[in-house]
Amino acid sequence: MEYCKANLLDLFALERLEEACFPAEAFSRRLIKNLLINTKSAVFKATEPTGKIIGNIIGTTKKENSASVGRIFSLCVLAGHRKSGVATRLVQLLEEEFCLRNIRKIRLEVSTLNNVARTFYERLGYQMTSDILPRFYHDGTDAMVMRKYLS
Ligand SMILES: CC(C)(COP(=O)(O)OP(=O)(O)OC[C@H]1O[C@@H](n2cnc3c(N)ncnc32)[C@H](O)[C@@H]1OP(=O)(O)O)[C@@H](O)C(=O)NCCC(=O)NCCS
Repeated sequence: MEYCKANLLDLFALERLEEACFPAEAFSRRLIKNLLINTKSAVFKATEPTGKIIGNIIGTTKKENSASVGRIFSLCVLAGHRKSGVATRLVQLLEEEFCLRNIRKIRLEVSTLNNVARTFYERLGYQMTSDILPRFYHDGTDAMVMRKYLS
């Protein structure tokens, strides 16, 4: 598996990947395009030897008070490729990128129904906060906020 930053040439493949992983919640082409070109975001992809993109992570940054905070905006791996460490590697790459940008705090939202993602992030040192975002997702599901401080 190869891991590297994604670029505009990956736009359509990333759109298909999002649709496959989040049938009801996929990012639009326009949003993915903006994330690919915005210097405040970072997109990494996992590509199998055939050239097919099977996973990606999208991170964004923003100023909160005086410090920049990183956010994991999207993470997905195609169903047939899960449970073999792909997402773990993608998160590591994004964390390294955040570190390079002097970001020490990362936050993310996870659906209250998504126990797989919750377990996944906890294993990587992310902690659940008491913040709940009511009806965060299109289907009306709440999101829980998780957080990690990079050392
Ligand atoms: C969550 C997701 C990104 C994990 O991707 P992955 O490549 O399978 O993750 P990894 O192989 O790196 O998993 C690492 C650890 O996470 C946990 N984990 C991953 N999938 C799991 C599952 N189905 N059940 C329980 N734990 C799981 C395990 O602790 C696993 O470690 P192990 O393999 O030693 O048991 C993937 O399941 C996915 O794309 N889901 C759909 C989209 C989604 O929910 N994204 C997150 C939204 S915030």
